Amino acid sequence: MNLLVFDDNEKLNEAGANIIVSLVQTNPRAVLGLATGGTPVGIYEQVVRNYKQGLVSFRNAVSYNLDEYVGLPEDHPESYHTYMRQHLFDHIDLPWANAHLPNGNAADPDAECAAYDEMIERSGQIDLQLLGIGHNGHIGFNEPDTDLVRGTHVVTLAEETLKANARYFDSIDDVPKRAITMGIGSILKAKTILLVIRGADKAEIAKRALTGPITTDVPASLLQTHPRLTVLLDRAAARLL
Ligand code: GLP
Repeated sequence: MNLLVFDDNEKLNEAGANIIVSLVQTNPRAVLGLATGGTPVGIYEQVVRNYKQGLVSFRNAVSYNLDEYVGLPEDHPESYHTYMRQHLFDHIDLPWANAHLPNGNAADPDAECAAYDEMIERSGQIDLQLLGIGHNGHIGFNEPDTDLVRGTHVVTLAEETLKANARYFDSIDDVPKRAITMGIGSILKAKTILLVIRGADKAEIAKRALTGPITTDVPASLLQTHPRLTVLLDRAAARLL
């Protein structure tokens, strides 16, 4: 595990963006696994800056997002489709046809999950999977459980996740209760993984995920088994390491 701690969040954003941008510079057909949440916003901003400076083109790249809420219209302000457009896709030349997110409104969600996995398979391996982490150690929307699921699947969100994500909605009752997420197996299949952890409120889970036992109680702890894991942390998140 390659662990990098930053005093300055701008430097962390630059380091994260550099990893994505240099991958696409050397492999223009790279397959990117992308994440949402507050954590990657600054990294996407920096990627967009690099694109606008003419340093990189995404026109041949492909992306797969980790997850999407079930039942939220695609153009809802808090859907992950909207998030990705706002923070990245509207500002770079990645063709919309190459950018994939699970369809949270599919008539048959299980068929949608299987189709999403098949699509990823057809693209070959994900070259770089970007990840944030939930306070309970979830990655994507893979919540702590006795068993974790390998492929893309429908999940019922944990109470803690609903509370954490309520900040984006008018009330907790408006947070969708279910989501479609790539599974732990799909995440671990990526060639390289870039996990980003920010903030004092993530210090405890950072410690458990990175140095604690490997357990399905902390889905992110399974990342310890990945041969090419880079973790970017700000000083506050790294406090207990
Ligand atoms: C969300 C997403 C995750 C994200 C996590 C943390 O619910 N499904 O992909 O990593 O929770 O979010 P944040 O970065 O806002 O703390």
